[in-house]
Amino acid sequence: MSLKDDFPILSREVNGHPLIYLDNAATTQKPQVVIDAISQYYSNSNANVHRAVHTLAGEATEGYENCRRWIKSWFNAEKAILTSGTTEAINLVAYGWGRANLQPGDVIVLTEMEHHSDIVPWQILSEERGIEIRYVPVLDDFTLDMDAYAVSLENAKLVCVVHTSNVLGVRNSVDELISLAHKAGAKILIDAAQAVPHDKIDFELFNADFMAFSAHKMCGPTGIGALLVKSDAFEQMQPFMGGGDMIESVTTSGSTYQTNEHKFEAGTPKIAEAVGWSAAFEWMSAIDLPAHHERLLNIAKWTADQLREIGCTVYGRHQSGDAAVVSFLHPTIHSEDFARFLDAKGFAVRTGHHCAQPLLNRLGITGTIRASFYLYNTQDEAEKFISTVRYIVGKFA
Ligand code: ALA
Repeated sequence: MSLKDDFPILSREVNGHPLIYLDNAATTQKPQVVIDAISQYYSNSNANVHRAVHTLAGEATEGYENCRRWIKSWFNAEKAILTSGTTEAINLVAYGWGRANLQPGDVIVLTEMEHHSDIVPWQILSEERGIEIRYVPVLDDFTLDMDAYAVSLENAKLVCVVHTSNVLGVRNSVDELISLAHKAGAKILIDAAQAVPHDKIDFELFNADFMAFSAHKMCGPTGIGALLVKSDAFEQMQPFMGGGDMIESVTTSGSTYQTNEHKFEAGTPKIAEAVGWSAAFEWMSAIDLPAHHERLLNIAKWTADQLREIGCTVYGRHQSGDAAVVSFLHPTIHSEDFARFLDAKGFAVRTGHHCAQPLLNRLGITGTIRASFYLYNTQDEAEKFISTVRYIVGKFA
């Protein structure tokens, strides 16, 4: 049995070839146990949560809250707010914490490496509130300019930084980023969307104030993610969305709110998705993540070396701790054409700006071809990928 056997989609063909799925930084595939858990929930327990005393409502509530327990124990966190994903989690910090705690003239520090989901919410808030945004530059070796970071922290109230780049796979020096932010008196939000699939982060030890991530990049369903929040930051947050379930009482003259995470989960939440995410955690708990991380990084490093030998430019460094993401360009074959040729042979890769236009501007390009590896990928698949790349280059370059 290989891990691949747990994922029904991985036995399908695409364009007459066995699927080789290398678009894992966009989303990972789902094991059968996750698909079954969602189907079981809708077949047997579907109801709304926290609202009724009947048996199904109890099962649905238990299924939803069980996911929160999984998140809290997996990440060793006191507060876990369920969101629709990383993007909503970051927006929740902008609207729930930023609006309540930032004043005109306050400074937020971002980096040139951020995903759009960690730039645009801050730009909207900046326009609304007159907040200054500073961007930490990316150096030629694809790392953050830590000297510039230290300088940018003067008067900063909040730092928002990506743990692991979705374009480069580069893992930033998060421990240093966090400790410098705190020394400067700023809170720090970590976008961990690309980190949690590979790294079982202990949120208490990590010591960031906020951490955002999604289920679907770690074998769970789409449409659900979480925001972990340190207790003092949690107390400083105001609701972002008002509605059912987040209140304690409502009268025509005003409302009072719940004091736990429900305060930030107005409306019917992502119940089936939560049930599916719990199944993903359970499946992942039997996986040796550090060993796979190491194995996949070696595959990525090998792939990057081969691509360089073929004449491609590779963006990234594939050093210890980095994610198994290989972004590259061929000097003459357009990336979209390249990806279509690969698709014709059964390979799924992503092209384009990867929702990180400031980073690509910094690199002087408009897009890359990105192959990203996950638990079920093998060296053999990387070799098939490289021989197909050689075939395409031989035919069209
Ligand atoms: N942020 C995801 C990616 O990098 C969607 O593809």
